[in-house]
Amino acid sequence: MNHAAVIGCQWGDEGKGKVVDFLSDNFEAVVRYGGGDNAGHTVVVNDRKYVFHLLPSAMLHSDKLCLIGNGVVINLKILWKELETLEKAGVARAKLFLSEKCHLILPRHIKEDKKKGGKIGTTCRGIGPTYTDAVARRGVRLLDLENKKSFRPQKYLEYYRWLKKNPLVRIGNCSVLLDELQIQKKRILFEGAQGTLLDISHGTYPFVTSSHPTVGGIYIGTGFRPRKLEVMGVVKAYTTRVGKGPFPTEIKGKLGTYLREKGGEYGATTGRPRRCGWLDLPILRYAKLINGLDSLTITKLDILTGLDQIKVCTGYRLDSKVQRIFPANLAVLRRIKPIYQSFPGWQEDISQVKNFEQLPKEAKKYLKAIEKETQLKIKLIGVGPERRQMIRWQS
Ligand code: GDP
Ligand code: IMO
Ligand code: MG
Repeated sequence: MNHAAVIGCQWGDEGKGKVVDFLSDNFEAVVRYGGGDNAGHTVVVNDRKYVFHLLPSAMLHSDKLCLIGNGVVINLKILWKELETLEKAGVARAKLFLSEKCHLILPRHIKEDKKKGGKIGTTCRGIGPTYTDAVARRGVRLLDLENKKSFRPQKYLEYYRWLKKNPLVRIGNCSVLLDELQIQKKRILFEGAQGTLLDISHGTYPFVTSSHPTVGGIYIGTGFRPRKLEVMGVVKAYTTRVGKGPFPTEIKGKLGTYLREKGGEYGATTGRPRRCGWLDLPILRYAKLINGLDSLTITKLDILTGLDQIKVCTGYRLDSKVQRIFPANLAVLRRIKPIYQSFPGWQEDISQVKNFEQLPKEAKKYLKAIEKETQLKIKLIGVGPERRQMIRWQS
């Protein structure tokens, strides 16, 4: 297939940045389609860590074209900062194309988010208020900056002028460019931000973000004409969540703290500690049906090394019934009891393992059980944060 999408299957931070960077070699263009700088996508190359908030995670590939689609909300200051950081680091970077239809995050949006976002535990980046203004038809888009008289925050005009002068940045109609790329038979990779359960329509509402991280967001958020995509779901080998809201398999106490410390589970955007829990198969089955997943990528398998026992939630008990799919109703979510299956752990260091066969038999058993329960093939396995710490299993 020519085109593919990388989608988070849990509550974000599954390792999408690393996967996108890893896959970039197979594509000519990489496109962000939703969210804003609430995202924090980490790429580690030769011990050097890059965190992308707005820029697509293929920016380190100078032969690629990176696009920010109309579904993304842009804080121009953050965009400027991210580009400056790369320039200062002397990185030969990809070309960037911005949709002129992107809505802008303005100081008033951030102010409102800081005031009201606490109930949800937002990232306070102004995301919700910006999408609210967009839906209420009173937002400000990138193309409005051309009409300078109607736009007051002057600093934003400066960032805009800076962007327009930058030889590696273009602003225009993203849908037209995607059309041209398709005619030229270029391969396009769509980079999801956040995760399925943070989707405004399909997630744990109201404890969600204000956009559509699921696969449907791609068409709305870029103007890409519907075509078959290979949909790759990214899943952490356990589960994490930042902010408030339900989390059936959350581990409280010592083991939760152990996973957070071992996994470095602190937000890449806000630095907040992430809540940690066991892998939840009802969530994966739900992510499969919402996104039409074709395969899975499991990240951070190495973090489970050293545990005596690894638990996986195979379903939920609700009264006398067993539920296999993640429910929508928060009242139901409060009543369900996760059903766990235990797997023996492994002690061997797997961070340098290059292929599936070299993994300890317990790790293989864990991965095969995930495949069986989700009826999806695992294509890639992450065994460390570095670009090269990725096992290709099945193609
Ligand atoms: P994203 O938002 O989905 O791109 O994920 P984040 O970058 O917010 O969080 C994932 C974290 O895990 C980052 O610190 C990555 O460097 C790291 N990471 C990704 N894959 C692996 C892996 O396979 N093993 C380990 N140990 N770390 C990983
Ligand atoms: P990436 O792309 C994890 C969470 C926030 C909060 C909720 C709403 O790095 O996976 P918002 O600021 O979007 O209005 O906050 O969504 N959230 C994320 N959690 N990873 C993310 O992005 C997130 N983006 C938003 O913590 O609970
Ligand atoms: Mg993240």
